[in-house]
Amino acid sequence: MTDKTAHTGKNTGGDVRLTGISKTYGSFTAVHPLDLTVPQGSFFALLGASGCGKTTTLRMIAGLEDPSTGTVFLGDKDVTDLPPYKRPVNTVFQSYALFPHMDITENIAFGLRRRGIKSVKKQVDDMLELVQLGDKARHKPHQLSGGQQQRVAVARALINHPQVLLLDEPLGALDLKLRRQMQLELKRIQTEVGITFVHVTHDQEEAMTMADQVAVMNGGRVEQLGAPADLYENPQTTFVANFLGTSNLIEAEVVETGTDVVVTAGGGKLRVPGDRCTSAVRQGGKVLVGVRPEKISLAHADDAGKIADGRNRVTGRIADSSFIGVSTQYVVNSPAGAELQVYEQNIERDTRLVPGAEVVLHWNPAHTFGLDAAQDIDAGVETVEDAG
Ligand SMILES: Nc1ncnc2c1ncn2[C@@H]1O[C@H](COP(=O)(O)OP(=O)(O)OP(=O)(O)O)[C@@H](O)[C@H]1O
Ligand SMILES: [Mg+2]
Repeated sequence: MTDKTAHTGKNTGGDVRLTGISKTYGSFTAVHPLDLTVPQGSFFALLGASGCGKTTTLRMIAGLEDPSTGTVFLGDKDVTDLPPYKRPVNTVFQSYALFPHMDITENIAFGLRRRGIKSVKKQVDDMLELVQLGDKARHKPHQLSGGQQQRVAVARALINHPQVLLLDEPLGALDLKLRRQMQLELKRIQTEVGITFVHVTHDQEEAMTMADQVAVMNGGRVEQLGAPADLYENPQTTFVANFLGTSNLIEAEVVETGTDVVVTAGGGKLRVPGDRCTSAVRQGGKVLVGVRPEKISLAHADDAGKIADGRNRVTGRIADSSFIGVSTQYVVNSPAGAELQVYEQNIERDTRLVPGAEVVLHWNPAHTFGLDAAQDIDAGVETVEDAG
């Protein structure tokens, strides 16, 4: 299969382009035919729950897996039939598998030595500096922390000057704190060297922290692709709405479509900007209305009269509240929906807002989005807890 657009449009010099790429194992489809362009020099994340096809997709880019259909382009070059070692690509895996008997310098120099390059010192020193391990040059891997070993693995790959670096859950073995540090570190390295990173993770925070673009995968398909803030603010499916952060999804019925779509939910009316509704929503009928927990304000029912006109509002009763320092997280049961989540910043706490209190949830209609009701309202919910 060839891409007719290959030589039109913008310069695709170093892009990774997948066209119609799929992978089946017997009767099981691990990756459905997918088209994906990773722009040169970008930090790109493949995000999704376990088993959704992330590694398979990455391995097809690396040449470690033969696609069942489709083509892999690196720049304008069709590399589909090239073996891994002939592709300008390096991979860093979760288990970074450094050579235990070699010191850090020799681990990093490995790729150069294998190509018969003798004078490696300058390049190794540059790499040690890049990953900030100059003082560990003569240590053995077992003398380094997990995060330091991981940086050696990145340096060992980067010294080969790949066009693309593929990273498959490289931070999976690290504890949360180290993982956060390494996310920033990897991002810094990527910005500094400017080559394309394709990073696989099941951790939505990790993807959003690091990546310029995120492809959210579910069941072997890319559900949505975009910049982190765009995916977060404008999810197109319940899976994306639930998998990236938390969303309140409210079952509703369209009563009016115009610039705003007006819906009824739990006996009240809500407004949704028309341009934040998927096309199915604008056709009317049953829909799902979404709003993020941090967009909602909570007022005690006695203060309902003080809420500004024009805000979306639903009544409810606080079922649970947890104080977590910067914010308090409330769970509210409402005729519009059970267990609505509300995050309130702790600025001036209203001491009446305790479990059992009658409240009004209100928010700017602009922060509301509308989704097709013909999908699982809980898609992507469970997997979000899997922080690895
Ligand atoms: N060699 C194989 N034979 C049969 N099925 C396979 C094979 N390799 C992968 N699969 C299946 O393909 C699907 C996708 O696997 P893949 O490794 O790409 O998932 P993943 O998104 O990387 O998951 P994880 O986050 O757990 O690493 C899984 O259901 C897996 O069981
Ligand atoms: Mg995997």
